[in-house]
Amino acid sequence: MKRTYIRRAAELVTCSGDKAKHGSEMKEVGIIKNGAVLIEDGHIALVGSTEELDKKVDFQTAELIDAGGQAVLPGFVDSHTHFLFGGYRADEFGWRLQGESYLSIMEKGGGINATVTPTRAASVEDFVAVGKERLDTMLRFGVTTVEGKSGYGMDKDTELRMLRAMKVLDESHPVDVVRTFLGPHSVLPEWKGKEREFLRYMLTEVMPEVKKEDLAEFADIFTETGVFNIEDSTWYLQEAKKLGFRLKVHADEIAPDFGGAEMAVGCGAHSADHLLKASDEGIRRLAEGNTIATLLPLTAFCLKEPYAPARKLIDAGCAVALASDLNPGSCFSNSIPLLIALGCIYMNMRIEEVVTALTLNGAAAVGREKEIGSIDPGKQADLIFLHYPSIQFLPYRTGVNIVSRVMKRGEFVI
Ligand code: NIG
Ligand code: FE
Repeated sequence: MKRTYIRRAAELVTCSGDKAKHGSEMKEVGIIKNGAVLIEDGHIALVGSTEELDKKVDFQTAELIDAGGQAVLPGFVDSHTHFLFGGYRADEFGWRLQGESYLSIMEKGGGINATVTPTRAASVEDFVAVGKERLDTMLRFGVTTVEGKSGYGMDKDTELRMLRAMKVLDESHPVDVVRTFLGPHSVLPEWKGKEREFLRYMLTEVMPEVKKEDLAEFADIFTETGVFNIEDSTWYLQEAKKLGFRLKVHADEIAPDFGGAEMAVGCGAHSADHLLKASDEGIRRLAEGNTIATLLPLTAFCLKEPYAPARKLIDAGCAVALASDLNPGSCFSNSIPLLIALGCIYMNMRIEEVVTALTLNGAAAVGREKEIGSIDPGKQADLIFLHYPSIQFLPYRTGVNIVSRVMKRGEFVI
């Protein structure tokens, strides 16, 4: 058995728990001063203070790691990304700076549909090569598990290739990749006015194959004005559930009073994501239910939109997760330091709440809260070491990556 003993962590931030934290629980991150962790075969065996664990651990049989002066916390979970795609859309970023809106660019053939042609031209090998580079950047920011969505093929072959590539990456790269099928990501011109038929095609021709090859656990849809309406989205989600998918929704990103959050809760979705324009009723429903509110501040920042009402959601009792939304259009960023700064400075979240949102609640948003997201005995030893002694430095050292070392299943990968 391989034993690794980490001791003298200035602050061991356990984020202890095996289910999402709601509302006021989110600030309880469980800090152990002068903390220690014993890892056995990639899993956490003992957690406590260095004084306590020094009495229990056999120093002869364990590799010793001195974390003096450093904070140690669970690996971050980036629970919403579109990290695989072909081509780039830098021109659109410039147009938006000139005042064009995300939806108007989409209406004139830009947006998601513009990524489809270069994505359809990419092979599994192309996706794996570019995906590896992007996962490497995530790992440096301390992300040890990521969720990745298909959705830039919108035909059977390309959607399957994207997911197969993510499966290869999951098996070959230290970052774990949780996969989501997002066939209904937008409406291509040939399907305009035939949205129900398009969804039926996805449900009957593509998604059974996705399940057969075990390519995705989750199914997602972009529910938005000019994309998929509530009625069609509800039908798709219910049918996807029957096929064995867990559900996610791109909800209430752009249009106010669209009812995306309410629909997500009503369908039993695992998470409702974006929520910039969530209604009071939507927030109330999220607080009552088990659907996680996943907020994507980097997207709001890049689109120059007001941030999702994080304070209101937490104060109402919701379980909030934070994620990057890395994609080629609305947000070509997976900067965790910037995300943390936005969460604390503009969304008025406490750093403890941000840490919960990026660890345990992120894990819950991808259905992994029993395996990762906290430093608890039995969980996978996915850990981050900071250059500084406390998580307070995460927002304070603003926009700078202060992750010094990253451990995945008990082995240093950074
Ligand atoms: O989450 N809103 C829909 N999907 C992505 C954007 C994808 C793109 O612009 O390529 C999002 O922001
Ligand atoms: Fe997204």
